Amino acid sequence: MSPSRTPVKELSGNGKLVYGCDYNPEQWDSGTWQEDVRLMKQAGVNLVAINIFGWAELEGSPGEYSFDRLDEILDLLHANNIGVNLGTGTSSTPAWLTTLYPEILPQSASGTRAWPGGRQAWCPSSPQYREHALRLVDEMVRRYGAHPAVRLWHVSNELGCHNALCYCDVSAAAFRGWLVARYGTLDSLNQAWGTTFWSQRYSAWEQILPPRTTISTNNPTQVLDFHRFSSDELLGYYQAEADVLRQQSTVPVTTNFMVTAHIRNLDYWSWAPHMDVIANDHYLDHRLDAPTTELAFAADATRGLAQGLPWLLMEHSTSAVNWQPRNIAKRPGEMLRNSLAHVARGADGLCFFQWRASVQGSEKFHSAMLPHAGTDSRIWREVLELGGILETLAEVAGTTVQAEAALVFSWEAWWAHDQESHPSSDVRYLDQVHAMYAALWQAGITVDIVAPGADLSGYKLAVVPGLYLVRESESAVLANYVTKGGTAVVTYFSGIVDENEKVLTGGYPGAFRSVLGIRSEEFYPLPPGQSLTLDNGSTASLWTEAMRLEGAEAMATFTEGHLAGTAAVTRNRHGAGDAWYVGTVLDPAGLREVVTEAARASGITVLASPHGLEVVVRSGADSNYVFLINHSDEEHKYAAHGHELIVGEDVSHAVVIPAGAVRVVRTPNPVPHTTGLSTGPKG
Ligand code: GAL
Repeated sequence: MSPSRTPVKELSGNGKLVYGCDYNPEQWDSGTWQEDVRLMKQAGVNLVAINIFGWAELEGSPGEYSFDRLDEILDLLHANNIGVNLGTGTSSTPAWLTTLYPEILPQSASGTRAWPGGRQAWCPSSPQYREHALRLVDEMVRRYGAHPAVRLWHVSNELGCHNALCYCDVSAAAFRGWLVARYGTLDSLNQAWGTTFWSQRYSAWEQILPPRTTISTNNPTQVLDFHRFSSDELLGYYQAEADVLRQQSTVPVTTNFMVTAHIRNLDYWSWAPHMDVIANDHYLDHRLDAPTTELAFAADATRGLAQGLPWLLMEHSTSAVNWQPRNIAKRPGEMLRNSLAHVARGADGLCFFQWRASVQGSEKFHSAMLPHAGTDSRIWREVLELGGILETLAEVAGTTVQAEAALVFSWEAWWAHDQESHPSSDVRYLDQVHAMYAALWQAGITVDIVAPGADLSGYKLAVVPGLYLVRESESAVLANYVTKGGTAVVTYFSGIVDENEKVLTGGYPGAFRSVLGIRSEEFYPLPPGQSLTLDNGSTASLWTEAMRLEGAEAMATFTEGHLAGTAAVTRNRHGAGDAWYVGTVLDPAGLREVVTEAARASGITVLASPHGLEVVVRSGADSNYVFLINHSDEEHKYAAHGHELIVGEDVSHAVVIPAGAVRVVRTPNPVPHTTGLSTGPKG
């Protein structure tokens, strides 16, 4: 556990917002370094991550280190007053290491060993990998632990991006060790895993394996525990590097999280307490319906991991990435909107992957701050503009975001919810989370993302999408919250199993039946493409269930199908509070209506439809900063008075936000009554 968090603004070297990038000087000659540093200064860059993939450069053959070029680049950056986020360099193994120890290479569930040649090809439990990597970390910290340029240690890189789940024999042994620590006895493991089913009972620990590919389906609790183990195993590796660093250096230590749509293997709620700085990498995912809304969710989730304090965006892109099927370039102004959406939601710094676009390797078509086209380019001009705006927004550093609503999010529930042999493979955890988040986003409600069991007492509204797996202590927090006057909205396939994937019987959703005042007997998933109409005009798809009211009132009922006349959406007065249940996949407008109604009833002021205007407030001791991000093609106005920072003008009644633009209004704290959403486009 980290003793205390380092304020992100300290990493800028001047108490302002961080502006930075990954920098891979090993790909360039030292003449280019001089130009790089000159341009970095022009852009206002104050923190660069280096040596992320440096191992093979530093240790050309076992135990033979050469730090000359790294010395030179650190000194050059320092001489130019640019701080360093120093990679330990262990992320990708050198060829000699996997040639000497091929057993380091990770193995898939079906037994295929990965070959070297990509990156991160190491088994998280490998003793040979760990020994060699920690030796490099030790060399690094002895050499650079007190170097004045170093402001942050960057352990490895995106731990678990490619190698989170390894099924090799070494991992199997480590998994067994983890299980012994968790269950103590085989009996208790057999009980937790329900091994009487399909003759799966274990009579010796050695019989237990990771959930490798079987000819049918795996044991779900074994799969779930393997996820827990794998997350813990990589965290243990992070801690091993961090221990080496902390023994010899007082510089804060972190690694870059991947709170983003396509990565789910690490339970960051358990990782976060071990970081000195919470840092995230985020890339817009054009495979999603609403990439910008997902960005906001990821940013809010990162703020949740930082317990509300400012955090650092360690990587994002100036424009296209290279790893999606179609890599869409950002439109003019989009990079600024994306960047300031992160800042609005609590980031005190923005860094890009990467500084200068590579000309070789598989990322050569990934965008960068300095593109192939050079400085006579739109991207470079936008990079300069963003640097200037961050300078203007310096006073925002250290302020925090206030939210009246919470969304309960769980990596464990995600692992469990999306397992095979469930009622419908069309129903996915993250879809549920994103749908609920989008409904709140569109209603202009700022949300904190919290862990199951977190204290909800400060929130007017708590939404719980798809929390399939829930511990008794966690469901008790929700029940208590509602009893005491809180408003909850729970969605389908929540509260179904306990932490061992064991069904809570007596009717669904077992864990939340009493607070919701309902009881479902059976699920009736619908095929994709089929929808049912509800009496309030909404449509339902993919998921329905046979619900009986046990105290709750029906807020919407099915008008067709064999569930016609039964409830799809309910509301239950419980104690002093209110608990809503959404027992189907509502169309987006229908879900927004439910959420808005629940929010209004909870006392949250829901203003007129924002029409693509994202509004988030950061609060400091004396001032609030109202971020207004116009994602639409129409000009908006927003009632406010104070001072607009980006254009630099006083605002007496309303500020105009041109189509695609961002405005940030400093208002006195607390926000005066005149502040509020406009009723729509200007005019
Ligand atoms: C990240 C990674 C970077 C770079 C980037 C490209 O996952 O940390 O090294 O590969 O993606 O988008």
